Amino acid sequence: MSEINLQIDGKEVKAEEGMTVLEAAQSAGIFIPTLCHNEVLEPYGGCRLCTVEVEVNGWSKLVVGCLYPVEQGLIVRTRTKMVDKVRKLILEFLLAHSPDSPALLELAQEYGADKDRFEKESSFCLLCGLCVRYCAEVKKKNVIGLIDKGGKREISFIPELAAKECWDCKECFSLCPTSYLQAAYHLTKAIAFPSLPLPVKPVSEGTAKAIK
Ligand code: SF4
Ligand code: FES
Repeated sequence: MSEINLQIDGKEVKAEEGMTVLEAAQSAGIFIPTLCHNEVLEPYGGCRLCTVEVEVNGWSKLVVGCLYPVEQGLIVRTRTKMVDKVRKLILEFLLAHSPDSPALLELAQEYGADKDRFEKESSFCLLCGLCVRYCAEVKKKNVIGLIDKGGKREISFIPELAAKECWDCKECFSLCPTSYLQAAYHLTKAIAFPSLPLPVKPVSEGTAKAIK
């Protein structure tokens, strides 16, 4: 594998062919925010929070850091005015779905994003696909899917499979950047299988309402 030399935020960085800009930055200790990225899963490029600016042959453009491959002599900037503006806007859209997400609120502070800029959406889901992809790629179970369109698009557990597969697993809960995935699962189970025992920690009324 050949070595690639690039520059990130003015720092000379060595990477391997086939690496993404995000991986090269992480290997050099340079932080790029991510939401839908997880190193055990295939690259997805869904949230765009990892947007960075790259310069190729004197031309600058915005690219998705978790998908864009490193190139010899590439110049990457992770905090330009435009990059920060894009991230702020993305965060404001995401906060309309999940205004209490700790991961989003922390980033909102960094980028000056207003969590009330957009009207609240009916679905809590940020569509990062982490739970869906983890269940499919790692667990090979495909219990969770994405349903509906537009602002209503959200995840859904397949009740028959969830009752069989999720009880002993629940590994996707901790991947979710919102606090509602666990509640969504328990609600699905409670509706589809009222006779099954309740979770050890019952879902609060507030959380259940929030996920509708
Ligand atoms: S439920 Fe959570 S982990 Fe799953 S896609 Fe939505 S935001 Fe991502
Ligand atoms: S982390 Fe790159 S698009 Fe989501």
